[in-house]
Amino acid sequence: MAIPTHTLNDGNVLPAIGFGTYPLRGDDGVAAVRSAIENGYRLIDTAVNYENETEVGEAIRRSGVARDDLVVTSKLPGRHHGYDDAIASVHASLERLGLDRLDLHLIHWPNPSVGQYVEAWHALVDLQKQGLVRSIGVSNFSPEHLETIIDDTGVTPAVNQIELHPYFPQSVMRDVHEKYGIRTESWSPLGKRQAPFSEPPVAQAAERLGVTPGQVILRWQVQLGSIPIPKSATPERQRQNLDVFGFELTADEAAAITALGRPDGRLFGGDPDTHEEM
Ligand SMILES: NC(=O)c1ccc[n+]([C@@H]2O[C@H](COP(=O)([O-])OP(=O)(O)OC[C@H]3O[C@@H](n4cnc5c(N)ncnc54)[C@H](OP(=O)(O)O)[C@@H]3O)[C@@H](O)[C@H]2O)c1
Repeated sequence: MAIPTHTLNDGNVLPAIGFGTYPLRGDDGVAAVRSAIENGYRLIDTAVNYENETEVGEAIRRSGVARDDLVVTSKLPGRHHGYDDAIASVHASLERLGLDRLDLHLIHWPNPSVGQYVEAWHALVDLQKQGLVRSIGVSNFSPEHLETIIDDTGVTPAVNQIELHPYFPQSVMRDVHEKYGIRTESWSPLGKRQAPFSEPPVAQAAERLGVTPGQVILRWQVQLGSIPIPKSATPERQRQNLDVFGFELTADEAAAITALGRPDGRLFGGDPDTHEEM
């Protein structure tokens, strides 16, 4: 089944689901990313900090899928937020990937105490004008961080990639994104190690629909309008995770999954407003 798409606020198009690549590295990493592409994923999510851009580039070349059919995302690390550092960082990412263009580049974390994320955003705006990056966005930005960069540059990020899963459904951020026209992407979309596969709303929907709990959670993400980027090193799970467009949760089922959200549901222990990425 063809993967539906979302048109971003800059006119570019993203598939409604993507593939997360952390921590896939080395020969096994190349094999896993290649298998994901061969299984049909077209949006691939990497980052400088994952130290696997070389492997992702290799997997893309070995997959035989045309470059222009893929949407390659990477992320700018906190240590490269200065304007010149950010420009150099993107050139280095392209070199490692063996590509002449990124389709989406995100500021990985705002790192507010360093205070250079506005500079980093200026660099991404300029790289987009030069055609080196097709769409630009952010990750782990709070409403205040979004407001700051939009006010300063007049350019709204196309995407904010945030932690989002049933225990942490991010209702406030989704509303903020709606207001600005920013597309939400969900990291740890299954909930990673604490995936709520046996929670009754998930298990019961899986039973009714004859699908797996993981598929129910990813379908819930799709119905929220967020783009999940599940990671799996297993070809069978890669296929299963992609196969979420042939069934539908009822509004009540989806609402019951959203209601699993809880104040301590965040996987990442810190406060993203103050978190300093390594
Ligand atoms: N922007 C950020 O700050 C940020 C932070 C964290 C992550 N990310 C991105 O988000 C991506 C996904 O997040 P994540 O890897 O943390 O979490 P996730 O995708 O929610 O979960 C991945 C884990 O779930 C397992 N899994 C995958 N499909 C499954 C299925 N159908 N049934 C049972 N288990 C399944 C995987 O194991 P197997 O591999 O063994 O299948 C892996 O252990 C990352 O790879 C990365 O690209 C971004």
